[in-house]
Amino acid sequence: MNSCGFYAPSMKISSSPSSSIGVNRIGFDLFVKKIRCSSEVVHGGVDRVSNTKSHVQRLVGKGCKLVGCGSAAPSLQISNDDLAKIVDTSDEWIAARTGIRNRRVLTGNESITGLATEAARKALEMAEVEPDDVDLILLCTSTPEDLFGGAPQIQKALGCKGNPLAFDITAACSGFIIGLVSASCYIRGGGFKNILVIGADALSRNVDWTDRGTCILFGDAAGAVLVQACDIEEDGLFSFDLHSDGDGNRHLNAAVQEKETDHELGTNGSARGFPPNESSYTCIKMNGTEVFRFAVGTVPQTIEASLAKAGLTHSDIDWLLLHQANQRIIDGVATRLEVPKDRVISNLANYGNTSAASIPLALDEAVRSGKVKQGQTIATAGFGAGLTWGSAILRWG
Ligand code: ACO
Repeated sequence: MNSCGFYAPSMKISSSPSSSIGVNRIGFDLFVKKIRCSSEVVHGGVDRVSNTKSHVQRLVGKGCKLVGCGSAAPSLQISNDDLAKIVDTSDEWIAARTGIRNRRVLTGNESITGLATEAARKALEMAEVEPDDVDLILLCTSTPEDLFGGAPQIQKALGCKGNPLAFDITAACSGFIIGLVSASCYIRGGGFKNILVIGADALSRNVDWTDRGTCILFGDAAGAVLVQACDIEEDGLFSFDLHSDGDGNRHLNAAVQEKETDHELGTNGSARGFPPNESSYTCIKMNGTEVFRFAVGTVPQTIEASLAKAGLTHSDIDWLLLHQANQRIIDGVATRLEVPKDRVISNLANYGNTSAASIPLALDEAVRSGKVKQGQTIATAGFGAGLTWGSAILRWG
């Protein structure tokens, strides 16, 4: 992380196409030298095994790798034809403009906490890591089931003993990428060993089901990965690039608004506007054309930036895995980056835009189907509300 000096992804370095060492590695090595000058302890990350003699945390160089994944989706499937019964649209229009055919929607006793827990359990099983050995849970979501965050409920449901830290990251469709990068920083700079990064969203709860411009796009799901500390030589997160632009919020938001009805307490002569009215969030409001333009403009740029930081080129990418928002966006970015269609992962036909869940959900399906293999390089990018966007170049396994 730049602010604490452990990690300098935005450092300017010359990137040689032949180099397989990313900026994180280079930034890391510089940091090692810095530590050697100022401390008795060597290497970059902080190992949380305390040094009782000096009461100074021992610093040990760490890499991180993705060793497990899992996903879960609600049982109810809603097709384009189903939607055509409630808004003026058609399967032809939706499929041609977005690539989406079906989406899943939470019903009955299903919950985003339940889906996130199921996805996390599967990731732990694949990684062969016990819940007790998880030391951080990052729940990337914009739709927690509690205003104060949902991650601790997942920690409880998984039965992780020792009360590991669990908290939410809110960054809409970029949430998972930001969670992944955050996990790497906790491992490199904080000595954490097993981190669950979960992307889970139920935007169906915030969609205006009478607005054909938005309700056709979204679905609910959860996906998770287990990010594990490893030797720096095995490091599997080569580089990243993250951005936000609050000015673009006007194109895509679900803002808080006060309910208009005054409650009785407001009439007792107290200061005007106090106590405040109850408030809630509006449904998703989106200028689709502007968001489309933003995505096809920024996503190739951020992937180019990450590739340059990693010292890699387009031809080094085994798989392009973008946030699943619109097949036309995915195709446009793949064309710009000259990545052939057979190296692009896409499952949005079945799920629609599942926000923070879309990348780990698509990754999980690709890994379990044998498409993505151990050691392959993935260029991944998220983009969405905020506006936020970012990318990472990583190795699976
Ligand atoms: N069915 C039929 N017609 C429709 C529908 C629909 N569901 N929706 C819009 N139309 C109509 C419009 O009214 C318009 O009609 P008009 O020409 O008579 O005015 C026409 O189709 C074209 O509308 P556009 O909005 O220009 O259609 P476009 O091709 O841009 O597709 C879409 C709209 C699918 C929303 C596209 O703009 C898009 O995918 N944008 C990006 C969304 C996105 O990626 N979001 C990611 C972030 S989400 C997050 O972070 C939470």
